[in-house]
Amino acid sequence: MTVIDRTATSHPLDRLTEDETTAAVGIVKADERFGPRMRFGSVNLSPPPKAVVINHTPGADFERAVDVVLLDNSDGSTCEVTASLSSGRVTSWKRIEGVQPSVIMDEFFEAEDAVRNDPDFQAAMAKRGITDMDLVTVDPWSAGNYGDELESSHRIVRGLVWVHDKPGDNQYARPIDGLIVLVDLAEGRVARIEDHKVFPVPPESHEWSRNFGDEVGEERTDVKPLDITQPDGPSFTVEGDRLTWQKWDMRIGWHSREGLVINTVTYTDGDEVRPVLYRASLAEMTVPYGDPSITQARKNAFDVGEYGLGMLANSLTLGCDCLGEIHYMDAHVCDAQGDIYRIPQAICIHEEDFGISWKHTDFRTEDVEVRRLRRLVVSFIATVGNYEYAVYWYFYQDGRIENEIKMTGILTTGGLDDGETTRYGTMLGPNVYGPNHQHFFCTRLDMWVDGTDNTVVEVNTVPAPADENPFGNAFFGEQTVLATESAAKRRIDPFKGRYWKIQSAERTNRMGQPTAYRLLPGENILPFATEESSIRQRAGYMWNHLWVTPYARDENWPAGTYPNQHAGGDGLPRWTEADRSIESTDVVVWYVMGANHLPAIEDWPVMPVASIGFTLKPIGFFDRSPAMDLPAAKHCH
Ligand code: CO
Repeated sequence: MTVIDRTATSHPLDRLTEDETTAAVGIVKADERFGPRMRFGSVNLSPPPKAVVINHTPGADFERAVDVVLLDNSDGSTCEVTASLSSGRVTSWKRIEGVQPSVIMDEFFEAEDAVRNDPDFQAAMAKRGITDMDLVTVDPWSAGNYGDELESSHRIVRGLVWVHDKPGDNQYARPIDGLIVLVDLAEGRVARIEDHKVFPVPPESHEWSRNFGDEVGEERTDVKPLDITQPDGPSFTVEGDRLTWQKWDMRIGWHSREGLVINTVTYTDGDEVRPVLYRASLAEMTVPYGDPSITQARKNAFDVGEYGLGMLANSLTLGCDCLGEIHYMDAHVCDAQGDIYRIPQAICIHEEDFGISWKHTDFRTEDVEVRRLRRLVVSFIATVGNYEYAVYWYFYQDGRIENEIKMTGILTTGGLDDGETTRYGTMLGPNVYGPNHQHFFCTRLDMWVDGTDNTVVEVNTVPAPADENPFGNAFFGEQTVLATESAAKRRIDPFKGRYWKIQSAERTNRMGQPTAYRLLPGENILPFATEESSIRQRAGYMWNHLWVTPYARDENWPAGTYPNQHAGGDGLPRWTEADRSIESTDVVVWYVMGANHLPAIEDWPVMPVASIGFTLKPIGFFDRSPAMDLPAAKHCH
């Protein structure tokens, strides 16, 4: 591996350095419009215009700007500010009323403290026999929007309550169900206590941490070392934020909301550098709960838009999160004061053997050729309260790109009376259950297949018409151009082998077919929430698996820029009402995938990884298999 450090910015898409972030915060604070009760919601690189990125030549100058979202706790408004690092000045300051930026980290802890110190809350806990507030935890769930006056007039979270048996043990073993605390985040105080019902505190501990080793049980002892060694190092090169690996070339980005961003992916084909993907990220996710109980029914976390995966990213450790020869990239975000919050080793880059790429034996000549397949893995992991989401981008030697999301962590739980069960969840122990829910992920794919102008085509495999089909055996791939936004609101159909092709508007392969990548869905599902539900409005993007929009600089968030407490209708459903043309233009493809989670008792106390993903695979992009040049292994015995 070759690593070339860059101290100065060398490309318009380079991630903000800590110095740049600090400078931007300073510019904002020095502006006369910066008020004493303003807090920093997010600080991110302002996306440079595409033309600047695409036409950039090494060494050329470019503008650097930073987008800042401020919460003004003096009046509940939000400010969208752009600070120019090039000029040292604020270039745009927009005040917006009636929206709520994501819940920020400082507010998590402030909300919990406010609840613990509230006398009415303490009285509610005393009713349940709990007096030691140090053992009580409060998870600040984004409040959503259910017609409650507080949701539209105040910045609030809906606090759900748990109690430890011993400090630091598994809080989710002991939900205090029926007790919900609304916290006013701007005022840092309890706004309302909803005490619906007293349930018994579940009696069992269900530990997972080695700090409670005796209760977790003994570790198995028959696991021998499995080490990945790469004596000459891995085959990738890191130069600043640029990552190159064999024929792949990309730039690593970071955003407080999306976490890892993959920028400007190209593949070198012969002497030619061919664009594939301009930008890819997990742009939104929503976890709707499917339990009518009052504590569960309003749980609908938008983990990207209401919390921010970049804000909640893990610091990864060698040999644990990733195995082998690892290159890490550090990241940083800002806290409420605009101070740097460092996340060392936030992004993991490594190479994996992935079995065979191809093989053939000529049974007559006994000629055998086999090649091994490798993939480049770029990943990060975020902890959003009880759950972990690990996002992986895989780049293969055969031109494939895959996205995989691994879900793990601890179920949030509900409580039940003695002997009670529910079909809206799964019993995990006496008086405690894991409620039914789903996880929806929306990946934003700003496509760039042999240029910015692309067309999306749906392919369904269909039986041939009778007049062409004398033996009744024939079938073919029927292609339909998705010409408008309304035509491109699509769902999967595995029985038709449905996939979507993103093809170049200009380039054809040697057989005259448009060069293309296809989006192959994996496991997927639709929501079960009804038309009348709040989430139907708030996360309307979940009701289609595919959306295609023409690129627009301000269309980045599938559920809108500010989904927190929003009544809904924003984002993809709103933009696509215009029903714009998406043929032969700069298209953004939004792929939505849902994981259905009727919990199993085996998901407890920590869920073994569940995984979901999709593939982008070349179809007519190359003139033959791009894996033919893989080298034969030197050590086949
Ligand atoms: Co789940």
